Amino acid sequence: MNEPNKNFVNKDTDDASSLKKSLSMFSTGITVVTTVDENKNPIGMTVNSFASVSLSPALVLWSIDKKQPSYDTFLKSDGYVVNILTKKQENLCSLFSSPIEDKFKNLDWELSDDGHPIIKNTLAWFNCIKWKDYDGGDHQILVGEVKSYYYIEDEPLLYWNGKIT
Ligand SMILES: Cc1cc2nc3c(=O)[nH]c(=O)nc-3n(C[C@H](O)[C@H](O)[C@H](O)COP(=O)(O)O)c2cc1C
Repeated sequence: MNEPNKNFVNKDTDDASSLKKSLSMFSTGITVVTTVDENKNPIGMTVNSFASVSLSPALVLWSIDKKQPSYDTFLKSDGYVVNILTKKQENLCSLFSSPIEDKFKNLDWELSDDGHPIIKNTLAWFNCIKWKDYDGGDHQILVGEVKSYYYIEDEPLLYWNGKIT
């Protein structure tokens, strides 16, 4: 007889930590999503919920926790840049996942044509204007239309099982 699988979880008796652990078995890249606040100051946060959606029109999505301090700013913004990190940019992953006041102080960056911060020397970036937002439970799903983009050939920073490699 087969041994019962100790990692089997019924969602009805689940706690969020085992769901998070199971979801972390899906490997992702790591991005920093940036925009500007009402005073035109740059803001940004580390995000791994990024995904491509559509080629025509060119649409991408990411989701933001409704409890994030920058939630209102991102929801009010007319767009953002999704900056994809290279393997050498683990420092940016840490910087943009910490509650630091001015994350851009020592960074090399510029504004896109639509006025959103592009971080220099990333693997790729997608400059988006807002397409639509959708309710996603404790997150909000933000779909953006890609207006310009860029990439280089390099190694990506990856996230799997809570580890950054
Ligand atoms: C690898 C990684 C991926 C993350 N992905 C997301 C995400 O997709 N959505 C989200 O709301 N927070 C995500 N976070 C958490 C935010 O980056 C973190 O809470 C950050 O401090 C938010 O910035 P803020 O404090 O300036 O709002 C992620 C953190 C890490 C380390």
